[in-house]
Amino acid sequence: MIFHTFTADETEALGRKLALQLKPNSIIALDGVLGAGKTVLTRGIARGLGIEGIIKSPTFTIICEYEGRLPLYHMDMYRISSDDEFEMTGGKELLTSGGVCVIEWSENIRESLPEDIINITIKVITPEEREIEIKGIEL
Ligand SMILES: Nc1ncnc2c1ncn2[C@@H]1O[C@H](COP(=O)(O)OP(=O)(O)OP(=O)(O)O)[C@@H](O)[C@H]1O
Ligand SMILES: [Mg+2]
Repeated sequence: MIFHTFTADETEALGRKLALQLKPNSIIALDGVLGAGKTVLTRGIARGLGIEGIIKSPTFTIICEYEGRLPLYHMDMYRISSDDEFEMTGGKELLTSGGVCVIEWSENIRESLPEDIINITIKVITPEEREIEIKGIEL
C-alpha cells in the first residue's frame, strides 16, 4: 500500500493506525533518508501502543525501550554495519522477545532480519509531502 502525507501530523496518524494491527514480535524495517520522517512515524506507532512522552531518534543509545500495550523497541542502525554488531547491541534477541521492534536504517542489518517482516519506505517528495510504502501488513 502506498500513502501520501502532507504534514508530520498525518504521518504520525498513519503510525497510530498501523499500531492497531501490531502483535507480539512484529518487526518493522523502516527506511528513508535523513529527515524523511522515520521517527515521526515511530512516534505515531508509540502513541497507538499507548505510549506517551518524548520519542526521539535513538541515534546515540541505538535502542530505546518503551512500555505500552506491547513493549516497543525503537532501534537506530545508522552506525551498525554487521550481524555481529547488531548482536552486541542486544537488538537481535529483542526481535523475538514479545514486543514490537521498529528498526530505522534496517538496510544496515538486513541479513539479520527474517524475510517475513513489515517493510516501510518513506520517500521525500517535497519538504512537506512524503510517499510512504507499507508492505507486509494491511491497515
Ligand atoms: N509529511 C511529513 N511527514 C513526516 N515528517 C514531515 C512531513 N513534513 C515535514 N516533516 C518534517 O520532517 C522531519 C522528519 O524528521 P524525523 O526525525 O522523523 O526523520 P528521520 O527519518 O527519523 O531522520 P533521521 O534519519 O535523522 O533519524 C520533521 O522535522 C518533520 O516535522
Ligand atoms: Mg530518526
